[in-house]
Amino acid sequence: MGKNSVIDLIQSHRSIRKFTDAPVSEKQIDEVIASGRWAPTSHHVQAYSIIVVKEDAKKKELAKLAGNQAYVESCPVFFVICADFHRLKQVSELHDQPFEVGEQENVLVGAVDAALVAQNMLLAARSFDLGGVMIGGIRNNPEAVSKLLNLPSYTFPVMGLCIGVPDQDPEQKPRLPKEAVVHQEQYDATNLPKSIEDYDQVMETYYYNRTKGARADKWSEQMAHFFSTPKRPHVGEFLRGQGFLTRKDELDKE
Ligand SMILES: Cc1cc2nc3c(=O)[nH]c(=O)nc-3n(C[C@H](O)[C@H](O)[C@H](O)COP(=O)(O)O)c2cc1C
Repeated sequence: MGKNSVIDLIQSHRSIRKFTDAPVSEKQIDEVIASGRWAPTSHHVQAYSIIVVKEDAKKKELAKLAGNQAYVESCPVFFVICADFHRLKQVSELHDQPFEVGEQENVLVGAVDAALVAQNMLLAARSFDLGGVMIGGIRNNPEAVSKLLNLPSYTFPVMGLCIGVPDQDPEQKPRLPKEAVVHQEQYDATNLPKSIEDYDQVMETYYYNRTKGARADKWSEQMAHFFSTPKRPHVGEFLRGQGFLTRKDELDKE
């Protein structure tokens, strides 16, 4: 590669799930957070909050709640990135305005803002030779996570982020080919079956090598299996409890 250092950093991404005992310095944590805060944000709403978790007992509990993901406990610092409209409600009240947050759109705004923050944070961490992994498992038990972290109404945890000094050097996981994900001027799925077939082979080889022959999954099979059951069906109800998706016309659709 060697295109430039930003491109190199972005294109050498791998999730890291094993960490040494080395701490992440306060200075590094500050820079990671500052980088998150500089993410672009929809309409300048800045609808997110970052919870920094370093206490062992709390990480242990979060690891359990996220589906027994050990690295949530073993990483030196775990961030929970939340969508946050709580402070936006406060400013609405400050200026005697109605607070209309009940549409689906605001769930998207909060989730997108949080995701942009999280990715900036991960890249900033990697610039210090740290590594990490995002944790959607935080939405397995969003009520319990919210209770543990004292999250108020009009917030929801979007993802966790484990950060630490890498203690593994995994191969990069191949991505879908460009032809499968990029369209010129208009959507064109004509060559999709061929792209998927090619990619299945690439992924079979990747898994075969990574597991020394124990596993040779096809990506298409994995995805078909993944989408054969509903995903986190409790999330809608949880979001309603937090003050989202409350518009009557949203409810009528169900
Ligand atoms: C929003 C989000 C949530 C994720 N949640 C988890 C998770 O809970 N546990 C985990 O081990 N990996 C999680 N990952 C990591 C993905 O599995 C990983 O990015 C994907 O398999 C591609 O691998 P790579 O990041 O090493 O290239 C998550 C990634 C994203 C973007």
